[in-house]
Amino acid sequence: GFDIGKLRANTGLVTLDSGYGNTAAYKSAITYLDGEQGILRYRGYPIEQLAERSSFLEVAYTLINGDLPKVDELADFKNEITQHTLLHEDVKRFFDGFPRDAHPMAMLSSVVSALSTFYQDSHNPFDEEQRHLSTIRLLAKLPTIAAYAYKKSIGHPFVYPRNDLGYVENFLRMTFSVPAQEYELDPVVVSALDKLLILHADHEQNCSTSTVRLVGSSQANMFASISAGISALWGPLHGGANQSVLEMLEGIQANGGDVDSFIRKVKNKEDGVRLMGFGHRVYKSFDPRAKIIKAAAHDVLSALGKSDELLDIALKLEEHALSDEYFVSRNLYPNVDFYTGLIYRAMGFPTEMFTVLFALGRLPGWIAQWHEMIKEPGSRIGRPRQIYTGEVLRDFVPVEGR
Ligand code: ACO
Repeated sequence: GFDIGKLRANTGLVTLDSGYGNTAAYKSAITYLDGEQGILRYRGYPIEQLAERSSFLEVAYTLINGDLPKVDELADFKNEITQHTLLHEDVKRFFDGFPRDAHPMAMLSSVVSALSTFYQDSHNPFDEEQRHLSTIRLLAKLPTIAAYAYKKSIGHPFVYPRNDLGYVENFLRMTFSVPAQEYELDPVVVSALDKLLILHADHEQNCSTSTVRLVGSSQANMFASISAGISALWGPLHGGANQSVLEMLEGIQANGGDVDSFIRKVKNKEDGVRLMGFGHRVYKSFDPRAKIIKAAAHDVLSALGKSDELLDIALKLEEHALSDEYFVSRNLYPNVDFYTGLIYRAMGFPTEMFTVLFALGRLPGWIAQWHEMIKEPGSRIGRPRQIYTGEVLRDFVPVEGR
């Protein structure tokens, strides 16, 4: 006899927590987030101070190593990264194989995964020296891969990295220079992009970071784990929201700038339309990153002498939503993605590259969390449970008899 009671009992006590709203999967000393008060700190340092006074590579070092670097530590870190920016020539052939209209996030994730075929020394995650090397390689090469993905999409030749340039300058040049015309680096653009990368650098157990940790918990190498994180970031409910926000703003513009009817659609949940760039699982007040980015959007657009009708639409949407019962009662405020797209657009990036820029920023966070996971004593493979809802037991029937 079959005992359903026994089958149920074997599962033990299992909690069902849809979307992990209340389940902590890890202990972490990297990022502190208070969603009620809108506080975000990396390794204890407030995001506002880091955005104002630090640099992206300094923040990357801090996230990964735990403390702000001393002068020589930062110099060594930058120097090492600079020396690894080139991609193996064979990596270029991957881009030949992708269709020209391939989404750059797909290229990014594929090529990062492929790095583990070039660096097979990375396959043992318990080798500290190799972990360090994989860290440097990833930080150094992701901007090159991102720039190549862009060049592929517009049919331009790849621009090789230049070691005398800083991290952000190098990326901008590889993206926007063409052989006939060297890209002119604008300090306003460089500093704004550096700031945006800092603001994206970590955000505790978001979907992509949890993915990196889950894949890494099987002891898969860092390249494989981060490639999975890039795929998780791609979706419109996560990093892909920055692309969706801009598409939403363009849609409203094409509709004559009618903000009211768009808000009405959102409130009526027509065709599942959401106000993209609004709402957050953890923040129930203003996203502290969105505050800084909103100010930066104004600064960058005015410094570049660009007015953007889409910025006006965004401001109207925000104003409308912040005083509307639907959004207020659900604690829906602008998140990090609401204003970033406008800045990226003013810098000259096409919409499809927006999530790639998010990935460049989030990389140090993924790496730091992967290291923390691997080094945690007694760390176990990630393996959620389930509540089984299917048939309990059935007899097999051969195909002729069905
Ligand atoms: N527009 C309209 N309504 C919304 C929005 C939105 N942007 N976000 C949430 N809601 C509503 C939901 O419909 C739901 O309403 P209900 O109670 O009447 O059913 C309620 O608010 C709660 O929403 P959930 O989907 O349960 O919230 P959850 O925490 O699961 O989702 C998320 C968070 C995915 C960010 C959501 O707010 C969203 O889809 N936002 C738009 C996409 C976006 O901007 N994503 C970027 C997030 S930040 C990042 O990844 C960097």
